Amino acid sequence: MMLVIVSLVTAYLIWFRSIKRPLSGPRVWPLVGSLPGLIENANRMHEWIAENLRTCGGTYQTCICAVPFLARKQGLVTVTCDPRNLEHILKGRFDNYPKGPTWQAVFHDLLGEGIFNSDGNTWLFQRKTAALEFTTRTLRQAMGRWVNRAIKNRFVPILKEAQVEGKSVDLQDLLLRLTFDNICGLAFGQDPQTLTPGLPENSFAMAFDRATEATLQRFILPECIWRFRKWFGLGMEVVLRQSVSHVDKYLTNIINTRKQELTDPQFNGTHDDLLSRFMKKKESYSDKFLQQVALNFILAGRDTSSVALSWFFWLVSINPRVEEKILLEICTVLMETRGSDVAKWTDEPLGFEEVDRLIYVKAALSETLRLYPSVPEDSKHVIADDVLPDGTFVPAGSAITYSIYSTGRMKFIWGEDCLEFRPERPKDLPRERPSIPTNEVDRGGGAPPPPAQRGTGPQGGAKNVTNFILEEWASDGRPPKRLVPNSCQN
Ligand code: HEM
Repeated sequence: MMLVIVSLVTAYLIWFRSIKRPLSGPRVWPLVGSLPGLIENANRMHEWIAENLRTCGGTYQTCICAVPFLARKQGLVTVTCDPRNLEHILKGRFDNYPKGPTWQAVFHDLLGEGIFNSDGNTWLFQRKTAALEFTTRTLRQAMGRWVNRAIKNRFVPILKEAQVEGKSVDLQDLLLRLTFDNICGLAFGQDPQTLTPGLPENSFAMAFDRATEATLQRFILPECIWRFRKWFGLGMEVVLRQSVSHVDKYLTNIINTRKQELTDPQFNGTHDDLLSRFMKKKESYSDKFLQQVALNFILAGRDTSSVALSWFFWLVSINPRVEEKILLEICTVLMETRGSDVAKWTDEPLGFEEVDRLIYVKAALSETLRLYPSVPEDSKHVIADDVLPDGTFVPAGSAITYSIYSTGRMKFIWGEDCLEFRPERPKDLPRERPSIPTNEVDRGGGAPPPPAQRGTGPQGGAKNVTNFILEEWASDGRPPKRLVPNSCQN
């Protein structure tokens, strides 16, 4: 018996050495692969991945399950931040890299076959419909209305009150509430008003949060374990079931009411949210599908936007030079559009034409997303054997993690000062550089760009005032004071 055990262990160790040899990333252990390193660095996971990638030149391969028959397929993970590989995975050979079965199984209870959790035709159809809706002027206006109303009537008063009372605020919480209210308005035309004085708890928001958290927990467990827990109603699986049921009821209610309203002439044309848009289409979609559309958009848009804004304000607050330039740009545009009466500047939130002119603000937002991307890592499944542009062979059945966080922090892409927050950066970068993936990737379905990036570019290349001012600033290093009202020059 002893002899059999010793022979099996020896055979395993010989096999283990052979699979370990070609791997490049962090240390790989028998059976559990590189999981110990991941667990040890769980509270600094993105930094750990970036360090590994720096050491390995942008791509490494590791094993998370060092077991025969699995190690070279399901257990193998390729981690990359090489822009050429990202473009290949997300665009060039997009069809070979779907979300895959693991991802879909984990998210299925919450997101069903919504855009965030589907591949192939189901994904393409939703993508095309959403892309079409997102480009329409009316949706853009609807979004502007939701955002502006919430900023003016709720966000600003809460900040003002805190200022008067000399209290501090949890800006991240306020921004999360703001984006949640806005995305709900945009997705299904109902504002849950989580951003109101007193900051009330909202049962839908809480159920949604709990369901997301419980779903993410599934990622750290092997599939058979969470399935077992689901089957027997154990641990977070109970929370997930209850929360999903709460979310279901909430949305079913909204869909039923909306159906009645859309046939009622009294409400003719008053609903311009995404749900109503899908419902008004000729095809009749099932309630389940409509619910998943709304839910997927909330998940996609809520945390991404609020997290990006939180990092943005934090970075601006520790970079007074950038803050000054931003204020200068805003003042300049407002003086152009609203005249020199400063009271008029804060009457209403900025309009789209005004926002479009804030080029430096846009650059600062992009720079924020470079350093603190809202989706720091993402994973894809490999359908057929392939070779990545950097020469890495990826076998069918394995997984690829592309690290957006690391892509933004590599010297070989951004230069020596890659860790500095410098919105001026795009101007200084050489024109011929590797195409750098942004936070919303184009995979041929027509991407809806995040609001932070939409419509804020220079219009038609026109040399508008803002551009001119920035160019002047950049060339002589001084703010062009003659164009800035006195109130802004202190
Ligand atoms: C700063 C804000 C945002 C950032 C950084 C961001 C980033 C991303 C990223 C990286 C993905 C790809 C995820 C993947 O393929 O697994 C994604 C997908 C998506 N985003 Fe955004 N997003 C933002 C805001 C929004 C907003 C406000 C909405 C909608 C209201 C939205 C809707 C979507 C949708 C529907 C998808 C899925 C697209 C697909 O699978 O084809 N995003 N976003």
